[in-house]
Amino acid sequence: MVTSLLDLPRLLGLLELLEDVHHGDVNSLQTLGVHTVRFARALGQRNLYGMFLGAVFHDVGKLLIPRAVLDEPGPLSPAQWALMQQHPRLGHELLRGFALPEVAMQMVLYHHEGWDGGGYPYGLRGETIPLAARLFAVLDTWDALLCERPYKAALSREEAREALRRMAGGKLEPRLVERFLALEQEGFFNL
Ligand SMILES: [Fe+2]
Repeated sequence: MVTSLLDLPRLLGLLELLEDVHHGDVNSLQTLGVHTVRFARALGQRNLYGMFLGAVFHDVGKLLIPRAVLDEPGPLSPAQWALMQQHPRLGHELLRGFALPEVAMQMVLYHHEGWDGGGYPYGLRGETIPLAARLFAVLDTWDALLCERPYKAALSREEAREALRRMAGGKLEPRLVERFLALEQEGFFNL
């Protein structure tokens, strides 16, 4: 399914709002989209347009999370964490009216599921998680490791590679981590 032209102004409006919940940096979301497309293409995937949209809008559900929770500088309380874990479901709900490709909707809903079953919101495991969400989780995690946040420092690339390796088999699919790291070492994700 292709997004109709009628949806584009509303989608662009959402993108503007996303700047607010994405640390004032909507450009980094577009870079994440480009990296996702590159990785997906290297893995022989199709639906690249949908994957780009899924990457850019993956956290759109955060628009519906209270600001105080998003801006919390310290660790979240159990109640705040329970709310935060709703953002994939809320984002999926919010995008229902936009006729996005199915693969984008899967990425929004499942990007925090973990390979070992320890993710959220459903605790899916292994290949029951759609591939687009599994491959995007590697890039989303990589991006988060390299970024500075109020509650954490940015890691160096070498530290981020090590952190990603440690997540292989836990949060992330080992085969995809291995493939990502091989490509990353070649400079494949330098933009
Ligand atoms: Fe997220």
